[in-house]
Amino acid sequence: MSGSKNAMIWDVHAHLNSPRLAGDLAAVLARAQAAGVERIVNIGFDANSSAESVALAEKYDFIYAAVGVHPHDAAAAGSQTWDELRALARRPKVLAWGEIGLDYYRDLSPRETQRRVFIEQIELANEAGLPIIIHDRDAHGDILDIIRAHPPVHGGVFHSYSGSWEMAREVLSLGFYLSFSGPVTYRNARHAPEAAAKAPADRLLVETDCPYLPPEPHRGKRNEPAYTVLTAAKIAELRGVSLEEIAAVTTANVGRVFPRLNSAAGE
Ligand code: NI
Repeated sequence: MSGSKNAMIWDVHAHLNSPRLAGDLAAVLARAQAAGVERIVNIGFDANSSAESVALAEKYDFIYAAVGVHPHDAAAAGSQTWDELRALARRPKVLAWGEIGLDYYRDLSPRETQRRVFIEQIELANEAGLPIIIHDRDAHGDILDIIRAHPPVHGGVFHSYSGSWEMAREVLSLGFYLSFSGPVTYRNARHAPEAAAKAPADRLLVETDCPYLPPEPHRGKRNEPAYTVLTAAKIAELRGVSLEEIAAVTTANVGRVFPRLNSAAGE
């Protein structure tokens, strides 16, 4: 589908079904393709958004899906949610279980519930044969404790990584990938640029988390997949390599972190 000679870029974390993007989705997707962001993983945060995510992936050949319950929505999840997500997770374009994890910044579900639902979903991902996509906000210690006690056997991604390099080393030693988003471009960012500069090339990924977290110079506005290029360019600058090299290594990494891509559904 690509006429471009440049290496393509994957946006591994988007919320295209957000009302902020759904209204002009065709234009958003056209700009992504024109910018070289030729593949997008759309992420669920509850049963409905996960179903929407799979529907988008089944409509567009360049979109893939992840299904899961975000810690904000943990309190509403129950056995019916798990039945729905189990069924969705069998669809061939579902690459991962997520986003899941802990959010102690906004605390929209009780922390005890967040922990229980995170553990339940690690087990569901293991049963489904899928890696996980982790949302960690102000919960580093508990996230690490849980993934050590309940190992995600197919690994996964720390999305929108903004922790310290010290934490990154722990995450990397457990086999996880680090995905960087807009904040790596912010002038006042402290941790994310250091981790993006030091992480091994074979564990790097890039994402938007659109419509949230736009990179400079779009900070404060709506984010969209085309802007993944700005984040990738900043990482290239931090590492002293070309944008093409970041595009190539992150695309190669996608093929390893999401093994289902290599099955028949992959291309
Ligand atoms: Ni997200």
